[in-house]
Amino acid sequence: MATSNSPSKRTLCSGGVLVGKVRVPGDKSISHRALLFGAISEGLTKVEGILPAEDPISTANCLRAMGVVISPIRNGEVVEIEGLGLDGLKEPDDVLDCGNSGTTMRLLMGLLVGRKDRHFVLSGDSSLRNRPMRRVGRPLKLMGGEITGKADGDFAPLAINGQNLRGAVIGTPVASAQIKSALLLAALTAEGTTTVIEPAHSRDHSERMLRAFGANLEVGGEIGRHIIVRPGAILKGQKVIVPGDISSAAFWLIAAALLPGSELTIENIGLNPTRTGVLEILNQMDANIEVINEFEVAGEPVGDIRVKSSELKPFIINAEIIPRLIDEVPILTVAACFCDGTSKITGASELRIKETDRLAVMTRQLKAMGADIEENPDGLIIHGKKQLHGASLNSETDHRVAMSLAIAALLAKGDSLLEGSEAAAVSYPDFWKDLDRLHK
Ligand code: S3P
Repeated sequence: MATSNSPSKRTLCSGGVLVGKVRVPGDKSISHRALLFGAISEGLTKVEGILPAEDPISTANCLRAMGVVISPIRNGEVVEIEGLGLDGLKEPDDVLDCGNSGTTMRLLMGLLVGRKDRHFVLSGDSSLRNRPMRRVGRPLKLMGGEITGKADGDFAPLAINGQNLRGAVIGTPVASAQIKSALLLAALTAEGTTTVIEPAHSRDHSERMLRAFGANLEVGGEIGRHIIVRPGAILKGQKVIVPGDISSAAFWLIAAALLPGSELTIENIGLNPTRTGVLEILNQMDANIEVINEFEVAGEPVGDIRVKSSELKPFIINAEIIPRLIDEVPILTVAACFCDGTSKITGASELRIKETDRLAVMTRQLKAMGADIEENPDGLIIHGKKQLHGASLNSETDHRVAMSLAIAALLAKGDSLLEGSEAAAVSYPDFWKDLDRLHK
């Protein structure tokens, strides 16, 4: 009922209800890490529940180009990675294509910079070639890394001349799991200990999984923001079970919380506390959500969430919580449009350097539906409860924008047309199918 079936341009029907059960696809961050860490381990890594979407497939293809044997990444199939050991990656014959995936490019920078006497070129689509990379290249340089690129190393294509690295103590200027993870990967083969200190906690999947693979990694410091890696440990292939992605679940959580008469159960969601900011905000909004069946899978907390529609209050999001909901700001912006009062987002300038400038794109697209949003350099002020109307919308190539606008269209009055809907495949290939199934 919700959508027409053209691959890119979709008609989105407004109204109706969302009911039933949905199991969101595997966590994107954990899927990338399982592939990368499996590739540099000894023996076989088996990954269950991996996200069969464009971004992890980019990571797998880059690793294959360096000699790693990885079985096909297909829905519902266990993926096997034949690890080459810490120093086994081969020099590729061609450019490594990271597609649209910032995580692929940034984590590979850390993984490859210490491969002595090997040369690598990393590139990607036009969105990725416009995203800043010096934030990773600069701290890697402190460890002896050599990465060059356009605009003084800030933009891909990037060239990496593998070097022997030395450990260092590095404070990262922003709480970014991508920067942190790149440094931790470089530290595995550096000479001497590396300590990475973050200004705030970013998602900690790398720390959890590297330790499970056997890395000598310790999380310490007074407030747990010092991550210490001692090189020399051999990583061993593991079985990894990937929980569902809370960033994909967020679309259903917010849609069902707002669309009158809706009731959904979203199963198997990863509930790592560094990722659950969206639940904190939904609680702040008085949403009717309940976590049921909590359990732990391969070192990560997981649970099901039941959500029922209700009146929601506006929210305040500030810098402190941003790292825990960084990818959910677009859909939270949609939520703010439909609750009574003014919501404020500050400390969110990182949103401007995601797959698109998400503050600008969400403002532009939601304004086309009649939303009242003020855009600031580091956030948004959203005056809610103005009736939004159906409109001609565009994802501007951004997967999370595409899915956020789909939910906005459900909640608006009158049908909408969405161009660039195929972008959802970057992180949630079955999003449109799930929407059709749940929307009654
Ligand atoms: C990711 C970290 C986040 C997030 C991205 C995935 C990761 O980026 O926005 O979608 O897997 O490490 P930053 O760490 O750069 O904020």
